[in-house]
Amino acid sequence: MTLLLGCSDLERLLDVNACLDALRQGFVAVGSDQPDIPPRRTRTDLPGPGTATALLPGLVPGVPAYTVKVNAKFPGARPALRGLVCLHDLASGELLAVLDSATVTAWRTGLAAALGTDLLARPEADRVGVVGAGAQADLVVRGLLALRPVRGLVVHDLDPERARAFAAAHGDRWAVDVDVAADPAEVARQCGVVVLATWTREPLLSRTDVPPGTQLTSLGADEPGKVELTADLLRHARVFVDDVGLAAGTGALGNVGLGPDHAAGTLAEVLTGRRAGRTAPEEVTVYAPVGLPWQDLALSWLAYDAVRATGLGTSYDWLA
Ligand SMILES: NC(=O)c1ccc[n+]([C@@H]2O[C@H](COP(=O)([O-])OP(=O)(O)OC[C@H]3O[C@@H](n4cnc5c(N)ncnc54)[C@H](O)[C@@H]3O)[C@@H](O)[C@H]2O)c1
Repeated sequence: MTLLLGCSDLERLLDVNACLDALRQGFVAVGSDQPDIPPRRTRTDLPGPGTATALLPGLVPGVPAYTVKVNAKFPGARPALRGLVCLHDLASGELLAVLDSATVTAWRTGLAAALGTDLLARPEADRVGVVGAGAQADLVVRGLLALRPVRGLVVHDLDPERARAFAAAHGDRWAVDVDVAADPAEVARQCGVVVLATWTREPLLSRTDVPPGTQLTSLGADEPGKVELTADLLRHARVFVDDVGLAAGTGALGNVGLGPDHAAGTLAEVLTGRRAGRTAPEEVTVYAPVGLPWQDLALSWLAYDAVRATGLGTSYDWLA
């Protein structure tokens, strides 16, 4: 039997703090005991506005399962990412569960980004800016609220109504001061932490927009041609990524013509103490991940494990 876990099942099963722990442990385990099997991220353009992507295999040392994720990415759609995560038994290939990929992706991306953001930001930076008020940014904010004091939230989106709704939802839920900003530079002027999660192909922040000491987290530069921060800004910042090769290939560095030597290191290296993160209060730090398959497994396994305790979800026999 295969468990089917949709969005509302996952929202009930997943707990922000438990997911942050699983991701933190995953960064350490994968960073120090990398399986000798390179993860693949494959994408292709489609005749219309979207792209098709596949990420495999999600592997975490000690977890007896692997994931294969298939996503449709359509920037204008809600949600913009749709698809499935297949969770297979590592020994037999049995299809243990099929999970909603929009939810798994937003949780793993947002919470992994929250870990990196919290690690690199100045401890006293308690105003968080959001540029791109969508699914990924929502989970970054939820993660940051679990990790550090947040007193203010400033939101900008191309769609002002979306910015207002995002600000209002978080303001009501977490009792933080909220504001809406007219452009990304205004967000950067007001906030010590800025999270960008947009679909832009033109940079939104340049070096002169960003005050000393800012932490920038850029999630939108995860495919060829997508850029949120200028090359000049990245050249003068301390930049961390999740995978140096991917960042320099089709991520935040490579998409503006910068090579792997512009990465100060990976989040796994900072978490395991092998690299220093922020080294001075006035430094501009950046976390710019592309997203890795093991993160899909870390959260899918957590949800699958929780189901066995709660009985949530529907079982389906594909072979009947
Ligand atoms: N790095 C990773 O690990 C990772 C993982 C998943 C998704 N992503 C990327 O994150 C980005 C956001 O994904 P999402 O699921 O949150 O999408 P979404 O559509 O839910 O949200 C994106 C928001 O950004 C806004 N926006 C688009 N262009 C903008 C611009 N130029 N200026 C200001 N706002 C703008 C949109 O109006 C929308 O509200 C996408 O580029 C996606 O590919 C990255």
